[in-house]
Amino acid sequence: MADIDYTGRVAIVTGAGGGLGKTYAIELAKRGAKVVVNDFGGSRDGTGGGSTMADDVVKEIKDAGGEAVANYDGVHTHEGGANLVKQAIDAFGKVDIVINNAGILRDKSFTKMEENLWDPVIAVHLKGAYNVTQPAFVNMRENGYGRIVMTTSGTGLFGNFGQTNYGAAKLGMVGLQNSLKIEGEKYNIKCNTIAPVAGTRMTEDIMPPEVFEKLNPKYVTPVVLYLASETCQDTGKILCAGAGLVQAAGIFVNEGVFLGPDPSTPEAVAENWSKITDMTNLKQLSNVMDQTVDIMKHYS
Ligand code: NAI
Repeated sequence: MADIDYTGRVAIVTGAGGGLGKTYAIELAKRGAKVVVNDFGGSRDGTGGGSTMADDVVKEIKDAGGEAVANYDGVHTHEGGANLVKQAIDAFGKVDIVINNAGILRDKSFTKMEENLWDPVIAVHLKGAYNVTQPAFVNMRENGYGRIVMTTSGTGLFGNFGQTNYGAAKLGMVGLQNSLKIEGEKYNIKCNTIAPVAGTRMTEDIMPPEVFEKLNPKYVTPVVLYLASETCQDTGKILCAGAGLVQAAGIFVNEGVFLGPDPSTPEAVAENWSKITDMTNLKQLSNVMDQTVDIMKHYS
């Protein structure tokens, strides 16, 4: 297997001032990428802001002989995303890689989930991925090359108490991926998603110290680096990574039950419930047309 190398590639890593994003930026630069280190520099709930976090990572990359520039835009605004991509193109001529990693938390149980907790979380994670990826995608399409990585979460995939805002935003990013993989197909733009589990400031108070210890971000970084590389020819995949384990997650349908050509009754659904929900025979559909074809096969 040839070494994975990013010489000549330009990467944007959002939220790269700390945690997971910092490791992605540093490792990409070590392997030759020119990196735009974006970080708004705020606290875990998205308040505050500043340039130090991004600057420190850029310094570390440059001290090690790599190339990087800092960007302090908040990805939660449309202007911020546009400016970030413009800066990458002005500094390095193009965008090859986007890693949508920036994130905040504003946890509360659902009955206390006010708009001021909901909106900023959706804005940073989901709208942020749109704000950055959309202008980058325009450039990637012109160049006939792109690697996009979304960041989802176990909360989005499986659920967690007190994180309805975060879970909705995080699974929304999978929805964004699912259509982007189709729009990018003709242009060699691949879009995949990471679901990391790592000990960072985001998780330091929700994990016991001995678990936190084992979940060093360095276990997630190689998976993201692979997804950001030319070697990765796959698209639309969800990878879970943490503490040395790498798994694929997916959305599947089962065989189902054909209740007949005439509209059925809720009683018929109840009678067939265990068969309808039997997940032993699963298949993955690659787009919405496949779903329609799968349904209509009962009429052919
Ligand atoms: P972190 O808090 O260390 O990193 C997030 C970074 O995003 C911070 O440096 C922060 O300043 C930056 N950021 C926040 N709002 C921003 C904005 N509007 N614009 C630009 N930058 C902004 O946390 P961590 O753990 O490294 O998280 C990275 C990503 O991984 C996040 O998307 C998070 O939701 C996701 N994730 C992390 C998990 C974990 O176990 N650590 C689990 C599942 C998902």
